[in-house]
Amino acid sequence: MRRSVIAVYGATGHTGRLVVEELRKRGYEPLLAGRDPGLPRPVRADDPAAVRELVREADVIVQCAGPFSKTGRVIARTAAEVGCHYVDHAVESHHVRWLFDELQETARRNGVAMVPGLSFYGGLGDLLAGAVTEGMDELDVVTIAYAVSGWRMTTGAKDTAEQLFAETERITFTDGEQRVGYVEPRNVVFPFPPPVGPRTMIAPLPSCDVVLAQRHVRARNIEAQLTAHTFTEDQVFVSEDAAPEDRARSEFMVAVQALGKNSAAGRIVGEDLWLAGVHASVEGAVRLAEGEVGAGVHSPAEAFEAEPFLRVLEGLGAFSLRLPGRA
Ligand SMILES: NC(=O)c1ccc[n+]([C@@H]2O[C@H](COP(=O)([O-])OP(=O)(O)OC[C@H]3O[C@@H](n4cnc5c(N)ncnc54)[C@H](OP(=O)(O)O)[C@@H]3O)[C@@H](O)[C@H]2O)c1
Repeated sequence: MRRSVIAVYGATGHTGRLVVEELRKRGYEPLLAGRDPGLPRPVRADDPAAVRELVREADVIVQCAGPFSKTGRVIARTAAEVGCHYVDHAVESHHVRWLFDELQETARRNGVAMVPGLSFYGGLGDLLAGAVTEGMDELDVVTIAYAVSGWRMTTGAKDTAEQLFAETERITFTDGEQRVGYVEPRNVVFPFPPPVGPRTMIAPLPSCDVVLAQRHVRARNIEAQLTAHTFTEDQVFVSEDAAPEDRARSEFMVAVQALGKNSAAGRIVGEDLWLAGVHASVEGAVRLAEGEVGAGVHSPAEAFEAEPFLRVLEGLGAFSLRLPGRA
């Protein structure tokens, strides 16, 4: 039987290289693509004809080149038009919202499954929120809280973070509605369970978690937050040339707290946020290649059953998952 062709766009980047490595471990020989002329498939992200040729060759594309505000639209639109399943590593909420708003019909018509934000920020928060709130409704507040230490940002991550924090049109979900507009950032304390403990947070984190989770979490307010110390650590903004083994030394806890008539909480804890996100996108891409997901644009927790999917990632060593009983 023919093995599906999985293309990796942005194959020269830190994320792209890890995706290629993990796909090879699973027996795939991915099609390496990106703007670098030295790649087997050199394709500019803003060249519709070249992108069309690329996605015609592939069953699934894993989009790892960013910032997605610059690289995102032509590739996603062309994949939806040509019939190539799609996952991406975007953290940007506007890119992800654009996919849901603009590509849903095209993807459904052409039998294409698309799962944006299937990465660490965004994807893991969405999956954990799905697992924690499964079967719950009438929730008041769902908080997706990231505690990250030792993050060594790549050029792509740094460019994306700078852009996100400068953004004035932020997407939030309050009082049961998605809103777009200026939101004053604030510091709050989130009660992470041990060993992290209560931490000062940047709130809201302008990531795609809220765009993804509002699709299935039945809460009036959804917010993502990130530990404030993450951006004051010495290495965070000066690590563009860090070695991969140094990048692997980040530590994280992602915690979801759901409050309402009933409440619930859960968390994942691990090291190397890059690899955790890559395990998610590779597992997703393989499932898309196997035809497991129906046509349309889906959040990760809509595309896959959240807890079983997280358990598979846990089995791959991405993190450990705790879903204590509901209070
Ligand atoms: N949501 C998450 O948790 C998460 C996790 C990981 C990554 N990401 C996102 O994924 C993206 C890549 O991150 P990374 O850490 O892999 O960064 P990186 O190591 O700096 O790599 C960036 C990649 O994007 C490519 N690229 C940049 N601008 C491009 C353009 N205009 N056209 C075509 N290709 C372009 C680069 O190609 P060259 O090598 O030719 O420069 C390289 O392959 C970022 O946007 C980051 O925010 C998100």
